[in-house]
Amino acid sequence: MIVGSAERGLAVYESNNCSDCHAVEPNAWWGAPTFHGIWGSEITLTTGQSITVDEAYVRESIDDPYAKVREGLASDMASYEGRLSEQDYADFVAFLKTIRD
Ligand code: HEC
Repeated sequence: MIVGSAERGLAVYESNNCSDCHAVEPNAWWGAPTFHGIWGSEITLTTGQSITVDEAYVRESIDDPYAKVREGLASDMASYEGRLSEQDYADFVAFLKTIRD
């Protein structure tokens, strides 16, 4: 298993244009959900299904943004599949864990 670094995770966020749409501050809306506080939270999808934001959901949301979409949202996010390394995913998740409430 790859150990993630939150510091590098912030760099993954900043260097892949995630910040064009996603904020990291609480209650911020830049056209997409803020990443603040999403880790481990329960969200409702357009299908009505409730899921917990975990590693699998984060990974799927990055590789295939249309697979699961939050209720009330439409995805305009492009897939990053193949653009991030395994280390990048691990780092990004480590970063998310530092910005939950
Ligand atoms: C063009 C705008 C845009 C960019 C750039 C973008 N996203 Fe998104 N992203 C969205 C939108 C809109 C949603 C909400 C709809 C959905 O679930 O697909 C979303 C959803 C997500 C989710 C699910 C979040 C949740 O709270 O349900 C994750 C995780 C995510 N994006 C990660 C990323 C990462 C990591 C990057 C950069 C590598 C990125 N996004 C770049 C627009 C964007």
